[in-house]
Amino acid sequence: MGSAIFELKGKTVFVAGHRGMVGAALMRRLAHEQVDFLTASRSQLDLRDQSAVNAWFAAKRPHVVFLAAAKVGGIVANNTLRAEFLRDNLAIASNVIQAAYANRCEKLMFFGSSCIYSRLAPQPLQENSLLTGPLELTNEPYAIAKIAGIKMAEAYRVQYGADFISVMPTNLYGPGDNYHPEYSHVFAGLIRRFHEAKISGASNVVVWGTGTPRREFLYVDDLADACIHLMKTYSSPEPVNIGTGEDISIAELALMVAAAVGFRGEISFDTSRPDGMPRKLLDVGRLSGLGWRATTSLEDGIELAYRAFRAENDRRRQSDLLDLDRAICLPK
Ligand SMILES: NC(=O)c1ccc[n+]([C@@H]2O[C@H](COP(=O)([O-])OP(=O)(O)OC[C@H]3O[C@@H](n4cnc5c(N)ncnc54)[C@H](OP(=O)(O)O)[C@@H]3O)[C@@H](O)[C@H]2O)c1
Repeated sequence: MGSAIFELKGKTVFVAGHRGMVGAALMRRLAHEQVDFLTASRSQLDLRDQSAVNAWFAAKRPHVVFLAAAKVGGIVANNTLRAEFLRDNLAIASNVIQAAYANRCEKLMFFGSSCIYSRLAPQPLQENSLLTGPLELTNEPYAIAKIAGIKMAEAYRVQYGADFISVMPTNLYGPGDNYHPEYSHVFAGLIRRFHEAKISGASNVVVWGTGTPRREFLYVDDLADACIHLMKTYSSPEPVNIGTGEDISIAELALMVAAAVGFRGEISFDTSRPDGMPRKLLDVGRLSGLGWRATTSLEDGIELAYRAFRAENDRRRQSDLLDLDRAICLPK
């Protein structure tokens, strides 16, 4: 396993997807690294557009790329927008990886996800269980596209010697999350529902699914810190899991979020909603062997995330651009 030191200082760094939850956290963390930033919003550069991506890379020539742009969403979004999740994510990965290589990018990090492991792979999930069994059907298109991206990064390393690496983050939460009522991930969905119930005085909050699936949650600023660590120290074809190594049930998480938000009513479960994989916990042995561990506890992270949610609500209310509901609900 490689442990080369890659110098970030003085480099021109393209954070693709800088306005997303992960991209924004990377920007916050990279602000401490004396780098020059390159960013492009989707309206300036649609990463699905191959010729636009080629032209942009030829003009800007970034030294380093964090490929954190993707079509991302929760279980409903993945399951219903199946064609878009496959098409967009394949195009983004293929266009950016090829353009980075063609323009002599020194290092690229591709973002996979824990949800692309086989549905019944042994837990905790090790990096080598990728492609060892059938995928979870609800997010199969997303997983196929993400696996293709990981394999592209690996193939470019093997065939061309490109220093491209891949990471596998677990479920993330924190500032900049997507709070769409149908399309959000579970954590953001819970924050929003408990907050709205508290404000409206509702006596009951419905949590999707049975509450029994177990999940691992990582605060997004911890993820960004792990990514910078790996960008500097890791150079090998195998992806690296990024997580806390601990999981809890959705029912337990709901209780914790309700307590942090201050909701004192009842919690019930809508078992007509899909559960997804029964358990999803990453083995973080490779990452800890590389010298990194998460530092934000789930209790602290929930507090921080709820504070960020309220701040985002306030900003949007004051900006008067859109009504609150639409503003925090734009599907991505
Ligand atoms: N969130 C999680 O729990 C999680 C877990 C594991 C892995 N990941 C991975 O981490 C990465 C970032 O996820 P995230 O949660 O930060 O997602 P996000 O908040 O939805 O951000 C995605 C970013 O990608 C941009 N984007 C999407 N399509 C684009 C396109 N066609 N052209 C240009 N930009 C485009 C979005 O731009 P707009 O702002 O214009 O929409 C947004 O800035 C993804 O690869 C995801 O698979 C996330």
